[in-house]
Amino acid sequence: MRTRAVVRQAVADDAEAVAAVRRVVAPYKVMSPAATRHMLTVQSPGERFLPLVAERDGEVVAWASAGLNVWTSDPGQAHLSIFVHPEQRKQGIGSELAERLHQHLTEVGAIRVRTFVQPEGLEFARNLGYDGTRQMHFSGVELTSLPEPPETPEGIELVAFDTVDAHAAYTADAIASLDEPSDSPLDSVDYDRWLEEIWNGPAMDKSLSVAAMAGDEMASFTVVETHSDRMWSGMTGTIPGYRGRGLAKLVKSVALRRAATAGITAAYTSNDDENGPMLAVNNWLGYRRVQTEMGLLRTL
Ligand SMILES: CC(C)(COP(=O)(O)OP(=O)(O)OC[C@H]1O[C@@H](n2cnc3c(N)ncnc32)[C@H](O)[C@@H]1OP(=O)(O)O)[C@@H](O)C(=O)NCCC(=O)NCCS
Repeated sequence: MRTRAVVRQAVADDAEAVAAVRRVVAPYKVMSPAATRHMLTVQSPGERFLPLVAERDGEVVAWASAGLNVWTSDPGQAHLSIFVHPEQRKQGIGSELAERLHQHLTEVGAIRVRTFVQPEGLEFARNLGYDGTRQMHFSGVELTSLPEPPETPEGIELVAFDTVDAHAAYTADAIASLDEPSDSPLDSVDYDRWLEEIWNGPAMDKSLSVAAMAGDEMASFTVVETHSDRMWSGMTGTIPGYRGRGLAKLVKSVALRRAATAGITAAYTSNDDENGPMLAVNNWLGYRRVQTEMGLLRTL
């Protein structure tokens, strides 16, 4: 008889195993073990982040987490995610993880919880009271035949992130993020938290991330995160006064070319179905859809 899976809080040393489960369940969500360790260990205290794993015979078979969204001024907004290894499903592991996380979120004052599910997880989530119609498209491109980058407009200089001032990058990120489609506005990004979680985190590859500078101001940027020969686009943004001039196409196509030169073979990204401009940029770059997840909400 199989032993029962045991749920416990995840610790830093689970990073490799958690990254492995994530890779099996959602290979398009590129995240290195170092970035996974950072996610497990570095959070804002206000997030009340709870990371869990389910272990069977000493092996991690599922990963789940939940916490409060500290990047929004909307109070009580929470996130929850559950990844159960495909061979370990239909045994109550997901339900136990969900129960633990919902209990935790209730204790820390969450009002509304957001989750993303793959099509096969939809029924599970609906049975837990989640509902909604938001769609998040994940897409990928092989870095072999990229389009020619558009011309760099007059007054714009392309630079790598390792030469830019952190505060200029923070300002562009915070301003552009305000317009990213979501259920809660990304309108409360604290600079020190941003430095710790994003700028100084191990995920961002500053030598491959590209900014379009207009003097000291960052007009447009794209963040590259890598794991072995694959990359993830952390964020692409253009501040409102510079939109519609091809800058996102420029920074992202240059970044993908530089990544290809550095030995990266495939790039992945995610876009909300309502994000017409970013979908247009990615279609032009040759990205093809690999998965659509449903974004669902539940009140507690
Ligand atoms: C998405 C974003 C980065 C685009 O920046 P940009 O510099 O204006 O982009 P570009 O000028 O290079 O290209 C924009 C493309 O979108 C198209 N576009 C603009 N508005 C559109 C809309 N409502 N629907 C569909 N396509 C649209 C443009 O026509 C252009 O494509 P084309 O050159 O093939 O015609 C910018 O709008 C932004 O910062 N948004 C908020 C942050 C965000 O959502 N980032 C992406 C997170 S995944």
